[in-house]
Amino acid sequence: MSSTDAIVQIRDLSMTYGSGRSLLGGGGPVVQAVRGVSLTIRRGTTLGLVGESGSGKSTLGRCATLLARPTAGDVLFKGESLVSADRRRLTALRRGFQTVFQDPYSSLNPRKTVARLIREPLDIHGSGNPASRVARVAEMMQLVGLREDQGSRFPHEFSGGQRQRIAIARALVLEPELLVLDEPTSALDVSVQAQIVNLLLRLQADLGLTYFFISHNLHLVRHISDDVAVMYKGQIVETGPSAQFFANPRHDYTQQLIASAV
Ligand SMILES: Nc1ncnc2c1ncn2[C@@H]1O[C@H](COP(=O)(O)OP(=O)(O)OP(=O)(O)O)[C@@H](O)[C@H]1O
Ligand SMILES: [Mg+2]
Repeated sequence: MSSTDAIVQIRDLSMTYGSGRSLLGGGGPVVQAVRGVSLTIRRGTTLGLVGESGSGKSTLGRCATLLARPTAGDVLFKGESLVSADRRRLTALRRGFQTVFQDPYSSLNPRKTVARLIREPLDIHGSGNPASRVARVAEMMQLVGLREDQGSRFPHEFSGGQRQRIAIARALVLEPELLVLDEPTSALDVSVQAQIVNLLLRLQADLGLTYFFISHNLHLVRHISDDVAVMYKGQIVETGPSAQFFANPRHDYTQQLIASAV
């Protein structure tokens, strides 16, 4: 694979919690959540990350976008180091990637209207003018299947699936190239899950997005992913093209994971 195919290159990344860096002095046990992980995410594709609870998937997702600073290693976004970027450069680079979390209720401020929540990233980055921001919010709401007149409502007035649509609109408003999706449908009913997955697939096709899709649902990962990586106790134990991976899992742990999902 040539490096031009790679939008994200995670290089020998480690993340240790409780290593005494906390302001309160730590004192908790040291947890090596991610241990020397290297992964490539190809532009315009979906990399699915699977693994049991506590294996380090969310930590890797947060470190890949520098929501958490890794204790070792680096992440290259379009060839540029996130770890060595200064604050200002990192803010600029952050426009290129966004995260959608499992629970849109806790990630959306309940006191802000939907229109304001979707507009906020534009305000923060000083993008466009007031009129263009209002137009952009309307465009985003339509894109994710919400009605424009719903913009004056608050998150609690929506269903779980609709709230996830709001979170997706907010994540996409600055036109990022990469979305980290951390269990984006796990809190939803099965029928609603399918609607959100279909929305994500349509958005990917229309906008040429790259997805880092974190899930413990193997069926879903198989459906959505071009490539798959399996995480076990902080390490990647297997990675490869999705079709080959499901047809011929090589690692013991992967075989168990697939067997237990049937
Ligand atoms: N902020 C934190 N402080 C200390 N330890 C943490 C923190 N976040 C996660 N951990 C620990 O790091 C390890 C990996 O957690 P992580 O949330 O990354 O796993 P996960 O694979 O996303 O799990 P799940 O499937 O349950 O979401 C776990 O042992 C967890 O307890
Ligand atoms: Mg997690």
